[in-house]
Parts: sequence; C-alpha cells; structure tokens
Amino acid sequence: MTNYKGVWAFARLNTMRIAVYPGSFDPVTLGHMDIIERSSKLFDKLIVGVLVNSSKVPLFSAEERVNMIKGVVSEYANVEVRSFDGLLVEFARLCKATAVVRGLRAVTDFEYELQMSQTNHIIAPDIDTIFLTTNLNYAYLSSSVVKEVARYGGDISKFVAPEVRRQVLEKYNR
Ligand code: PNS
Repeated sequence: MTNYKGVWAFARLNTMRIAVYPGSFDPVTLGHMDIIERSSKLFDKLIVGVLVNSSKVPLFSAEERVNMIKGVVSEYANVEVRSFDGLLVEFARLCKATAVVRGLRAVTDFEYELQMSQTNHIIAPDIDTIFLTTNLNYAYLSSSVVKEVARYGGDISKFVAPEVRRQVLEKYNR
C-alpha cells in the first residue's frame, strides 16, 4: 500500500523555502531579533545557526547562546535554533536551506558581507545570500556594544530582551 502521508511530507519538505540566519549571537540583540522576525515571514522555515568556534573568544558558550535564542524566539513557530561548526554553506546544505540571511546595518558592514556572500556563492552556487537592512532603531547596535556597555555597568535594557539582559549581567557579576 502506498504511504501517501509519507509521500506528501517528502514533497512538502522538497518545496519548503528554508533559510539559515547564521551568526555568533554573543549575545542575541534586539537587532538580531528584528531580523529573525522579519525573515521568518519570508521563508517557510528559518534556522538560526549559532557558530561554535569563531576567531573571537565568546562570552557565552555555544550551548548558552542556543538556549538564550530559543528562549526569545519561542513565539515563532517556524524558527529553529541550532549550533554549527565549520563552513556555513555545509551547514546550510545540511539544513536543506537555499538561502542565507544576513542583516546589513551600515555601509561599514558591506565590504565584509559582500566578500563572505561571494565566497559562499563560489563554494555553493545553489545557496544565495539575502540581505535585510536593519531596522533604523537598531542600526548602531551590535553584540560587542552590548558587552562593552554591560562591562562598565551601563543600562542594556534597550539593546536586548529582559532574559538576555539578566544573563549578561550575571556574566559580569552585576
Ligand atoms: O555574527 P557574525 O560573527 O558576524 O557571524 C559571522 C558568521 C558566523 C556568519 C561567519 O563567520 C561564518 O559563516 N563562519 C563560518 C565559516 C564560514 O563558512 N566562513 C565563510 C567563508 S568567507
């Protein structure tokens, strides 16, 4: 007997538009959350990919960052959070994604992002990078700014979600 349910599920998986939103997210900011919310509406499924090993020494472990993001995206039914190591395009293929989403804040981001997207496209021509311009409210914002302000006792409540703020302050014993 043909398993039509299985065939239908397979066909649906093959037609789903899946995107990966990669980053260090150390920690996830309101700017990241804005990109997650907007891109989750553009794709059937959005997978937030947390880079485990980067050249920067992170404040939060990959597991902490994944759990932190899971805590702030729970309202979006089509968003998943996973960690990855190695090449982004390999992770995207593993996720069956055809697109990578990146946020562009200002012209200063452009050169690095262009180089990365072109390199990724040479390695994996089947995967495209989609840029979303950051909401103007968060154009100045980065994870580094959050850490810098928190380290010196400043208020980060306008930069991150309350639960993320709590965890950042805990790291700095505040
Ligand atoms: O939040 P970030 O640190 O700007 O994110 C950078 C990230 C994770 C997207 C980038 O470093 C990355 O994709 N790293 C994985 C290794 C890789 O595939 N590099 C791209 C070849 S240029």
